[in-house]
Amino acid sequence: MGEDCFFEKIEKAFSEVLPGVPLFLYENIGSTNDEAKEYALSQNGKKDAFFIARTQSAGRGRRGRSFLSEEGGLYMSYLLHPSLSSEESLKLTLFAAVCVTEAIEELTGITVGIKWVNDILCEGKKLSGILSEGAFDKGGRFFEYAVIGIGINVKKTHFPKELADIAGDIESFAGECPDISRLAAALAKKLSAFESADPVSYMSRYREKSIAIGRTAEVISAGGNYFAKILDIDCDGALVVKTERGEQKKLISGEISIKL
Ligand code: BTN
Repeated sequence: MGEDCFFEKIEKAFSEVLPGVPLFLYENIGSTNDEAKEYALSQNGKKDAFFIARTQSAGRGRRGRSFLSEEGGLYMSYLLHPSLSSEESLKLTLFAAVCVTEAIEELTGITVGIKWVNDILCEGKKLSGILSEGAFDKGGRFFEYAVIGIGINVKKTHFPKELADIAGDIESFAGECPDISRLAAALAKKLSAFESADPVSYMSRYREKSIAIGRTAEVISAGGNYFAKILDIDCDGALVVKTERGEQKKLISGEISIKL
């Protein structure tokens, strides 16, 4: 798809669902999350905005990983100014995971699940990841701004060897490629409802889509790795696990690895 057509289609799709909301489009950028953060710091007001790139040269994932961002994916960041305390940070990622899941399912008909905390999978393959970042006010208690960055593998992709077993793309599972501009706009519309969304409702949708609850997983945490049964995800998004020694723990960071 030509550059102009890609941009035109996204602009049109956004103007239909989110008229007047600033949208910044890039042919190639380091990271849309970085662009969103720079914009947040440079503007006088507190305007929310979306940032989308056709490719990223320095796409970032959680835990300092890079995120492959070649043509054929959706790389989008949403800058928002949530009334959220620092303890509630996880809610951004949890809400975004529900939005991504529902947007993909509504537009493609495939069924996807969420691996705590930020991975969207289809048949065990990662289709999408979420990286939420932000800055807090001087007291460190409330968000000054937040950025929700989302990467989705949309078109059929030949992943490098190290990703071939773990990553997947929508086109391969759906049998056809969804329109990236429609997917982006549908997702943006859902994300933009964060402030008015009911946490009880999106948390329950998150739990329903969780592929982790009830399974045994390897917990990868700063304090070391261990196996545990995943019991629940609590109302703040923490993972409730029971270790092999029968000890119950709540995790608010780290990640899990599940054999599917
Ligand atoms: C992960 O899987 O660990 C999170 C990946 C998040 C990737 C997206 S792509 C758009 C935005 N810009 C970035 O540099 N990262 C996020």
